[in-house]
Amino acid sequence: MSARNWSPDSWRSKPIKQVPDYPDPAALAAAEEKLAKYPPLVFAGEARNLTAALANVAEGRAFLLQGGDCAESFAEFSANNIRDTFRVLLQMAVVLTFGAALPVVKVGRLAGQFAKPRSAPTEKRGDVELPSYRGDIINSMEFTPEGRQPDPSRLLQAYSQAAATLNLLRAFASGGYADLHRVHGWNLGFVAKSPEAERWQDVASRITECLEFMKACGITPDQTPELRTVDFYTSHEALLLGYEQALTRIDSTSGEWVDTSAHMLWIGDRTRQPDGAHVEFLRGVLNPVGVKCGPTTDPDELLRVIDILNPQNKPGRLTLIARMGHDKVHKHLPALVRRVAQEGRKVVWSCDPMHGNTLTSTSGFKTRPFDRILSEVRQFFEVHLAEGTHASGIHLELTGQDVTECMGGAQAIGDDDLSSRYHTHCDPRLNASQALELAFLIAEMLKLERSNRGGLRHAAQA
Ligand code: PEP
Ligand code: CO
Repeated sequence: MSARNWSPDSWRSKPIKQVPDYPDPAALAAAEEKLAKYPPLVFAGEARNLTAALANVAEGRAFLLQGGDCAESFAEFSANNIRDTFRVLLQMAVVLTFGAALPVVKVGRLAGQFAKPRSAPTEKRGDVELPSYRGDIINSMEFTPEGRQPDPSRLLQAYSQAAATLNLLRAFASGGYADLHRVHGWNLGFVAKSPEAERWQDVASRITECLEFMKACGITPDQTPELRTVDFYTSHEALLLGYEQALTRIDSTSGEWVDTSAHMLWIGDRTRQPDGAHVEFLRGVLNPVGVKCGPTTDPDELLRVIDILNPQNKPGRLTLIARMGHDKVHKHLPALVRRVAQEGRKVVWSCDPMHGNTLTSTSGFKTRPFDRILSEVRQFFEVHLAEGTHASGIHLELTGQDVTECMGGAQAIGDDDLSSRYHTHCDPRLNASQALELAFLIAEMLKLERSNRGGLRHAAQA
């Protein structure tokens, strides 16, 4: 059923934040018009399948793994980069599925994650003040007046990069690369030398043993395609609404609107106002939607946003992504979780342990200490256990590349190491080794959560 009083452009009459200042509005309109004629990137049926998968997550029968770049960039666009991010997400999913015996719903921050909200509209270096970098879909990182000027032709370049990325992801997901029989081959060169290598090899060997056992029992990839393909979905922040509107189309089977730029879209912490443009836009599309919840999220306001975005309280439609910061989880999260549960709203609760834990290191790099990331995840699990709700997802900024952007982890990346391979276009990302380490730790927490719940159930039945 379509949302009432909604059209793909109804957001244009609402208050809006984080809008780039395009010098030539006519050129922007022309680019959007062109984009509106381009083919859709994803299909409504796929978005519905993701909603159904997320409904299982909401009920604690599956776990959501969402991750990828903070910002995709035109410069770093390459098949190897896409493959490596896909591979590390697959590895993490295998660790979680195997360790926690839970299906994992895999969603990349990929194929469209270009636009960035900024805390300040301008950036000052020395005496020079220029517009902030807002992501490659809007302007360039280069600190010059030309570079920082919003350029509408970037919308079209972002679309082509998203299309090519999605095409490769689809091939990886169903063309044989993701076949579980190749689990040993997914090792990243540098992870092979990392402290996580042994644990990963152990999991891979145990999976191979299971597959041999299944084959002996007559269960083969020919009859069970799940062994050789994966469902992999895409997502990004729906920030640049002109781009989203241009890719929003009618689904011919249901007559509903679908944003075909990605399977899932989320609203950031800076643009989640109930009467604002971003909430208005996403309330009308059928895709599953995420909303970031930060330390300033108020329980009443959150409830309003939930009811605007999911008036039918459909499980799987809405994911709340908590990003409090390691020192604020216990202060702010319980009230939100409790309120949502008391009011009977069905949501997926996911943890973004990245965005509340950014700091500038002594050497001047924007970084995130691995301990803080881990501590936020642990506390997220604690809160849900105490409230009797499900800690059912994780939202990460990561890359398959061997970068040195987040401090700590088993590789013990120190402040002095950050400069060696610091490549991000925006926020610091976990590298593949740190991401795998985190997956092992989350698998442990999930196992513990299950046994605790089992214990609580036994106690209740006794
Ligand atoms: C992001 O996910 O890249 C982001 C900007 O997050 P937040 O809106 O939570 O700050
Ligand atoms: Co970020």
